[in-house]
Amino acid sequence: MCGIVGYIGNRDAKEIILDSLQRLEYRGYDSAGIAMIDEKNAMIVRKEVGRIDNLRNEVFKYHRDVNSKLAIGHTRWATHGKVTAPNAHPHCDSRKRFAVVHNGIIENYQVLRKILIDKGHTFSSETDSEVLVHLIEEFYKEEERNLQSAVVEALKLVEGTYGIAVICVEEPYKIVGARNGSPLVLGIGENEMFIASDVNAIMPYTKNVVYLEDKEVVVIKSEQFKTYTLDYQRIEKEVTVVDWDVAAISKGDFETFMLKEIFEQPEALGNALRGRVQPRDGVVKFGGLTMTPEHARSIDKIIITACGTSWHASLVGKYLIERFAEIPVEVDYASEFRYRNPILNDRNMVVVISQSGETADTLEALREAKRKGAKVIGITNVIGSTIAKESDGGIYLHAGPEIGVASTKAFSNQLMTLAMLAIYIGRLKNLPLYEGERLLDELMTIPYKIQQVLNQAETIQKIALKYVKNKNFLYLGRGFNFPIALEGALKLKEISYIHAEGYPAAEMKHGPIALIDENMPVVFIAPKDSLYEKIMSNIEEVKARSGRVIVVTDNHDSVMESKADDLIFVPGTIEEFSPMINIIPLQLIAYYIAYEKGLDVDKPRNLAKSVTVE
Ligand code: G6P
Repeated sequence: MCGIVGYIGNRDAKEIILDSLQRLEYRGYDSAGIAMIDEKNAMIVRKEVGRIDNLRNEVFKYHRDVNSKLAIGHTRWATHGKVTAPNAHPHCDSRKRFAVVHNGIIENYQVLRKILIDKGHTFSSETDSEVLVHLIEEFYKEEERNLQSAVVEALKLVEGTYGIAVICVEEPYKIVGARNGSPLVLGIGENEMFIASDVNAIMPYTKNVVYLEDKEVVVIKSEQFKTYTLDYQRIEKEVTVVDWDVAAISKGDFETFMLKEIFEQPEALGNALRGRVQPRDGVVKFGGLTMTPEHARSIDKIIITACGTSWHASLVGKYLIERFAEIPVEVDYASEFRYRNPILNDRNMVVVISQSGETADTLEALREAKRKGAKVIGITNVIGSTIAKESDGGIYLHAGPEIGVASTKAFSNQLMTLAMLAIYIGRLKNLPLYEGERLLDELMTIPYKIQQVLNQAETIQKIALKYVKNKNFLYLGRGFNFPIALEGALKLKEISYIHAEGYPAAEMKHGPIALIDENMPVVFIAPKDSLYEKIMSNIEEVKARSGRVIVVTDNHDSVMESKADDLIFVPGTIEEFSPMINIIPLQLIAYYIAYEKGLDVDKPRNLAKSVTVE
């Protein structure tokens, strides 16, 4: 995890680093630091526990006058070592000649640390990352002044993952970067260059970027960059122009990114649909899927693998693909998939889903699937991410940058994308034209229906605020909406720190029912679908035990109205697409409860947006 950034150019480097770190804060936010080389070639380092604002205050208190054109910065999500200033990055050697920021994990750091201590190095942190700077110091040759070679020789000893940026007072006109398993992107400006964990960080400064690949090294000066392999071979890299809008990474008129992203969902879903659906032929087109119709028809099993919210979307995907494409689907946590023995063959398709495209477990699951001969389709939001690049074919979510740590619009776009994928494969198999037409016509109404739910935000807020003091919640749904119960509970847990469980409604009788009393709110997702009568019985069972019932439904039914303590009406759709609508009030409930509790909804404690460690 963690975010790194570097700048070299003519502007005030500390301003640019602090500003860019703010946009990387979603990757980790327990501590942060900056290292800059001043006009007298001295290394100035500041590290602070807490948010970037805190670091900014300290930098301006103590180093306001530092005139630096070269700096690196880091925002941390602790893995090895507690949240303390010494454990924050950048890490320096004892003479403060080198500074390193690192995202990833050095797996063999204990062995390396021991060797370095035996050679006389003194460590000042408990982190795995610090070995890097001591190794670089060890390999640096005064007479050669070649930072690149010291970095490369150090990296050759390292096992694990890294995205790094390194500066050195002996060569105060360059940054050396390298990646293996952790993302790194280069930003090209006019007589200035940037390096960062992702494009969000540098987007206000440049849209011309170069994505580094694993085991690549870059040497950056203000007017040029050169990329190499770890064997010092030059490689030419393609410059990509990023088309994300800078406004998309600001909060606009909203108080938080999460609320903005919830309200952006109709537009984000429109972007996912645009240019892909052709209702008159009942078909869907995907530019990057690289799958022939013959291959799609030959698939006899699909395995979807993902983590967190993306895993919940995968569960909905199973229902959708089995319904429309009539192919058996297994859904697996990426972390479980790769450590069991998945039985795969070339008639199987593995779909990996990841908003960030960088989640370590999901990426490794992709690699394991490819190793075993399966064709892998990656569904990601971040263009140029590692999962997008390593997949055989891919579909972008087109949700735009998602900054709030708790995923909202990316989840909705995952559901939309999976619905389209299911129809796409279905139409190549048994799904008739009239069904394709009907489904796509309905799919295109979903953004408008979601807007209608968002128009009721104030009503939903009033309901949510009644439950701010509750300590536990249950979320229950059936069929297509069982994963929505899981996702509703996860949203509440993540941002409000209230314990919440999602269950298939019928499973309630096998355990959770023991928890029900007047202090247990139960959120039912109850669309008027084939299981409506059954879920009504579950509602009765909760009421009979004095539970508080909140119902999300599209059905105006007097019996339901008499049973529910609170009702949220949403527009109706077919049951297959109802998850996309039903998740919206659950996102809002979680949001308003957390906000009322005064919590930082965009950056919940202990979480990070992009989990690049196993
Ligand atoms: C983290 C985030 C979640 C996200 C999960 C998977 O835990 O906090 O919001 O769902 O990672 O991330 P991905 O980028 O792979 O979808």
